[in-house]
Amino acid sequence: MESKTSILITCLIFATAFQLLLPVSEASGCGSTTTSDLKIGYYKDKCAKAESIVKSTVSYHVKNNPGLGAGLIRLFFHDCFVRGCDASVLLDPTPENNQTEKQAIPNFPSLRGFEVIDAAKAELEKECKGTVSCADIIALAARDATYLLGNISYEIPTGRLDGRVTNSTEALLNLPPPFFNLTELVASFARKGLSTAEMVALSGSHSIGRSHCSSFTSRLYPTIDPTMDPKFGASLRKLCPDPQNTTTDGVVPQDFVTPGKLDIQYYKNVESLTALFFSDWSLLTSTETRNQVETYTKEPEKFNQDFINAMVKMGNIEVLTGSPGEVRGPTCRFVN
Ligand code: HEM
Repeated sequence: MESKTSILITCLIFATAFQLLLPVSEASGCGSTTTSDLKIGYYKDKCAKAESIVKSTVSYHVKNNPGLGAGLIRLFFHDCFVRGCDASVLLDPTPENNQTEKQAIPNFPSLRGFEVIDAAKAELEKECKGTVSCADIIALAARDATYLLGNISYEIPTGRLDGRVTNSTEALLNLPPPFFNLTELVASFARKGLSTAEMVALSGSHSIGRSHCSSFTSRLYPTIDPTMDPKFGASLRKLCPDPQNTTTDGVVPQDFVTPGKLDIQYYKNVESLTALFFSDWSLLTSTETRNQVETYTKEPEKFNQDFINAMVKMGNIEVLTGSPGEVRGPTCRFVN
């Protein structure tokens, strides 16, 4: 096991090598990062209603607009992959910093669900001021959305603190784009401590929500990519005109068969070449990942369990449990 000293040395070398101006812990995500500090029911004695407040807020919003549930699950992924699960993705631009994660290409204008987090935070501040971190709200909201859209229920450890730094370049460098091939996807998840199998399980999230046309029109024009079913490609062309001839960027469901259900239909779509992204198709390009895709098409229970494990593991990425972390308030949009 890597000792704390060796982690610190690695961090120091990293920061020095790149001559970063920020303190080491802030620059490299090398603060207190012991995942063992997280625990299930962390707020039980600090704010007994914390989890139920998040749940009822998410439930209210997702029932009105199921797309927000998809947004919340993606928000969790986009938070955890950039500086760890520290709610850095929620920070608004300020006069001092106009280059935030939420303004970066992978997040703007597609990322959604921010108003649900705002609503939950407002309720939580009324109930127990300054107690529940925004990073934990994201993790709990994603968990609750998973239940509402997939009937998949699990507990998730809490006790994360919120970060104070947000940087748009880091979002661009850490979030995998839809044109990545399998080797690139595997490397992107491995950098966050997630395995290839966990990447395949988490990709099941593409059975819900939407995509902007711009995320996949390179597969439709000038010719339909042979890695896509030609009929599917032709129907997508009707929904998404050639970007050469239009300035509007429409949206389409990720999964045309069961669009509002978090389920194994995604894997069936991947197999039948009717998933939207090149990255989705890439899961067919190794025996290992192709077999896993096939297994999930037949074993929904296995998918559910693997998805749960991978979501919990993703929630442990580089979490802050000490300095320089804080419980942000009264809003999740600005540091204290
Ligand atoms: C494997 C690499 C991944 C790539 C390349 C990728 C890429 C994308 C892209 C391009 C979109 C559409 C954005 C838009 O144009 O509106 C999207 C949507 C989505 N992604 Fe991923 N994603 C990946 C993994 C994940 C993971 C790990 C999760 C969650 C665990 C996730 C959850 C979602 C959800 C729920 C949506 C729909 C969002 C909405 O409707 O607002 N994705 N993804």
